[in-house]
Amino acid sequence: MGVPLFDTSTPLIALRAELRRAIEGVLESERYILGPEVSAFEQEFAAYCGAAHAVGVANGTEAITIALRAMGVGPGDEVVVPSFTFYASAEAIPPTGATPVFCDIDPDTYCVTAETVRAALSPRTKAVIAVHLFGNLAPVAEIEALGVPVLEDAAQAAGSTGTAGRPGALGTAATFSFFPSKNLGCFGDGGAITTREQEIAERARTLRFHGSRDKVTYEQVGYNSRLDELQAAILRVQLPHLDALADGRRRAGRHYEEAGLGEFVKLPTPTAGTAPAWHLYVVGHPQAERLEAALAAADIGHKPYYRTPVHRQAPMRRWAQGVELPATEHAASTHLAIPMSPVLTREQAEQVLAAARSAAI
Ligand SMILES: Cc1ncc(COP(=O)(O)O)c(C=O)c1O
Repeated sequence: MGVPLFDTSTPLIALRAELRRAIEGVLESERYILGPEVSAFEQEFAAYCGAAHAVGVANGTEAITIALRAMGVGPGDEVVVPSFTFYASAEAIPPTGATPVFCDIDPDTYCVTAETVRAALSPRTKAVIAVHLFGNLAPVAEIEALGVPVLEDAAQAAGSTGTAGRPGALGTAATFSFFPSKNLGCFGDGGAITTREQEIAERARTLRFHGSRDKVTYEQVGYNSRLDELQAAILRVQLPHLDALADGRRRAGRHYEEAGLGEFVKLPTPTAGTAPAWHLYVVGHPQAERLEAALAAADIGHKPYYRTPVHRQAPMRRWAQGVELPATEHAASTHLAIPMSPVLTREQAEQVLAAARSAAI
């Protein structure tokens, strides 16, 4: 028996009865869009993050576009974004009319730093997207100290904690994805925006519903981008368990450390003061293909998520002329995600270790 890259089903077994009741409840209520479940989830999720407001939207990509627009980003502006991230972090910028400006990362934490962001700033910079990659937390306060508003892309970081608080309450606004494999996942697509500013929350609420407050008058060209009642009800069942599941992810990371995996691969490094709820456990290896082959031979799940960084993807090249990002290139060629889930056991970590040992150079 190998080890799967994720295990999204085992953690849900104990919640199945409660999930069925929640789904049944929505069926009986006959309210499917923007009803009481979404409102209750928004309040509970904002409270969990320590943010003043949460706005449910259709997915984590539109969450970024809507949050940027709600923060006042528009045509002619620049938004700084890392290139070592999921494509959507940058893809969400052009629909606002602004242009992405790619910045580098710290080679150990895989997150942006104040220095890498500073190198990409210009008088046109309107916002920075700080991606909390793999569950690690980007240093938001240090970036804000540069004088630019920060949008946290927290799609991969629900359940992580830092000395300054939880993702969702660190920057001007934050975005989440509830894609099923995420740390807090629903049973379809879903997302949310959190913010400390009432005005941004109100603008986001308006934008998610066609740019209208009253469904009769339309103030802007907006979106049809709503979290639905079913997904909100499913998320409400899981939210009270998020911390325990996040602890499971941290425990899985410790299994790898204690088994001695660090002898054979470069282990992920938390940013200062962060206890990451590892969404993906990404290790480094100078010959990543060799590690891939060893894991494949032992039937151990693995995936190189971002071999081609975003700024070198065809639609983004027009905004990446002359851009050189050495730490991004290095991370892109050497990283590999290995199995991670809240229920990964020490025995499974030992299995991964045995395979990694055989790829040692
Ligand atoms: C870092 C990051 N940003 C944004 C997104 C987009 O979220 P969604 O798939 O819900 O649109 C994802 C999801 O995969 C992500 O990992």
